[in-house]
Amino acid sequence: MEVNSAEFIASFPKESQCPTDGKPEFAFIGRSNVGKSSLINMLTRKGLAKVSGTPGKTQLLNFFLINKNWYLVDLPGYGYARVSKARQKTLASMINGYLYHRKALAMAFVLIDSNIPPTRIDLEFINNLGQQAIPFTLVFTKADRIGKMTLEKNVNLFLGELSKTWVQLPPYFITSSERKTGKEEVLNHIGQIIGK
Ligand code: GTP
Ligand code: MG
Repeated sequence: MEVNSAEFIASFPKESQCPTDGKPEFAFIGRSNVGKSSLINMLTRKGLAKVSGTPGKTQLLNFFLINKNWYLVDLPGYGYARVSKARQKTLASMINGYLYHRKALAMAFVLIDSNIPPTRIDLEFINNLGQQAIPFTLVFTKADRIGKMTLEKNVNLFLGELSKTWVQLPPYFITSSERKTGKEEVLNHIGQIIGK
């Protein structure tokens, strides 16, 4: 699938205020600084999502309309330590309120930093999604920053951890926003789901 148009629609503080036109939604989430904004820009166009050196920028549910027929939803990062406990709670209920209740959610893309071994926080987040029967796909990010061997090792360690709990493993992609690796694969995956 090609992206012909990508426009920012609006940011919402909670699920109940999000658009109700029923267009399928593809949500992107991951730990803060995992490369979410960079990935969204790589998939769509430069400058659509704000990339920054300061973690924790996205604090709302941000809706982008792609090709006038599906929404890309940029969710706040989870597990960002440098915000207050109260704020963390608000963000968690914003994220879970969206993921657990959203009827239009076609797929959640969970971004995982391919440069590091599996983290408890990512595994916990994914296990919760699985328990709630929310469809998700893994996207390993920043693949350009490490060697092939370490990359494979980290990916396999992650899948190995998941297979301790789940019989069926989710689809996954390996990406680099820097080198535009995985762009076609992720977009085609979305295209297949929406039937375009
Ligand atoms: P927050 O919204 O702040 O939580 O972060 P984010 O997950 O949106 O990450 P962002 O895209 O802002 O990227 C964080 C940092 O990682 C930036 O310095 C990016 O330039 C860098 N980065 C992101 N993707 C890649 C990648 O594929 N390769 C490399 N080398 N660096 C990347
Ligand atoms: Mg971001």
